[in-house]
Amino acid sequence: MDLIIKNGTVVTDSETFKADIGISNGKIKIIGQDLNGADQIIDATGQYVMPGGLDVHVHLQLPFCGTVSADDFVTGTKAAAAGGITTIVDFAIQSKGNTLTDTVKSRKKEADGKVCVDYSLHGGITDWNDRTKSELKSLVEEGIVSFKMFMIYRSEGWMSSDSMLYQALEETKKLGGTIMVHAESVDVLDYLVEKYHNPVDMKKYGAYCHVLSRPNFVEEEAIQRAIKWTEVTGGRLYIVHMSTGGGANLVIAAKKRGIEVLAETCPQYLLLDDDLFKEKNGHLYGTCPQIKKKEDIDRLWDALGNGEIDSIATDTCTFDTKQKAMWEGDFTKIPFGMPGSELMMPLMYTYGVREGKINLNQFVHYQSTNPAKIFGMYPEKGSLQVGTDADILVFDPRKNVTVDYQHLETNCDWSPYQGWKLKGYPYITILRGKIIAKDGRFTGDIGYGKFIKRKPVVR
Ligand code: URP
Ligand code: ZN
Ligand code: ZN
Repeated sequence: MDLIIKNGTVVTDSETFKADIGISNGKIKIIGQDLNGADQIIDATGQYVMPGGLDVHVHLQLPFCGTVSADDFVTGTKAAAAGGITTIVDFAIQSKGNTLTDTVKSRKKEADGKVCVDYSLHGGITDWNDRTKSELKSLVEEGIVSFKMFMIYRSEGWMSSDSMLYQALEETKKLGGTIMVHAESVDVLDYLVEKYHNPVDMKKYGAYCHVLSRPNFVEEEAIQRAIKWTEVTGGRLYIVHMSTGGGANLVIAAKKRGIEVLAETCPQYLLLDDDLFKEKNGHLYGTCPQIKKKEDIDRLWDALGNGEIDSIATDTCTFDTKQKAMWEGDFTKIPFGMPGSELMMPLMYTYGVREGKINLNQFVHYQSTNPAKIFGMYPEKGSLQVGTDADILVFDPRKNVTVDYQHLETNCDWSPYQGWKLKGYPYITILRGKIIAKDGRFTGDIGYGKFIKRKPVVR
């Protein structure tokens, strides 16, 4: 064998047990006791050995909000690797007039040769028409089985109408595809943004205008509507970056009615609250949807603890302080997004598992196994099974780290979690049998990551 991980505690989404793992040719060869005979041995005494993490929601080098997100396919995936993640899923977002097929092709060109972890792409549908509709079948055959649609971002030219969303759900249902939705109510949102977009309120509230213009019902109403279109079409819906407790309630109720709706939340909605916008650097935290209130945080953790929602991902869309400074006191000009992948797993361990909000197996379920299942990558990704890719995270539950952006791989000169104390951090990240990160630093080869062809859902 090439590598044996010895003496660790293996953790999957359903089991925790002591075992060694032997790896050969990039695959898991054996899981057993007292394994010997390999070129390299990792002593994992006192460590958890789990499937590598998946971050199924990242935007690297994304042209957005008048700039380009600051983590590119190199730095963003180095950061992911250092944070225990072995697969990311980015987006190929169509611009008007372009085919989705060409968009995917050129996004792949941007990523190939640069990515340091395995990757796939969600299609980003912004131009729904007969041509786009006719492309879906071949895209699904090529492994692009999920497509994001935006209910907002009119001025970016990304917005889809209800009719487009309805048609896309109807079409992807036939193909075993999934529609991912950014759920915010555009008409009311645009009205509220306009309402607060005046010198008096902006002087008085500063970046907090971003909060005032996006009350919870903006997300909840859109979720409700998207669920309705899913119910009547029989499609499969995945709500990205869900930020509200009310949204979680709607999703849970819909699931009980047998509607195929899945929901993702993100560390920022589980850990940060909107009082941050009142601080001097509040604008740094601007995302869409924005971080919400303590009650939302509690409800989202409860939903995770109860197994009522489906995944955790980061919505990484890094903007550094210089880019964020483009707002110049106008909340409508904040570049929306934050760094994410590198700290997702240690944050969820420290503030989720250690605080008893989710258990260790749920930690694996939400950040590895279930995203892999939802998006057609299981069991090659998201599992520890003989014959599958040896994508493994050796996680040290005792390691104390104080977050400092200067010691991270992300290309960001600030962190939403600067100075936060973490207990538990990735020790070694292994991708297809190769060590790609150790002790929070990337140690692999740029470009080693490869495109993952995903499978459609079989109903
Ligand atoms: O603020 C965010 N979320 N930026 C990325 C774009 C998106 O809507 O996911
Ligand atoms: Zn979004
Ligand atoms: Zn996003």
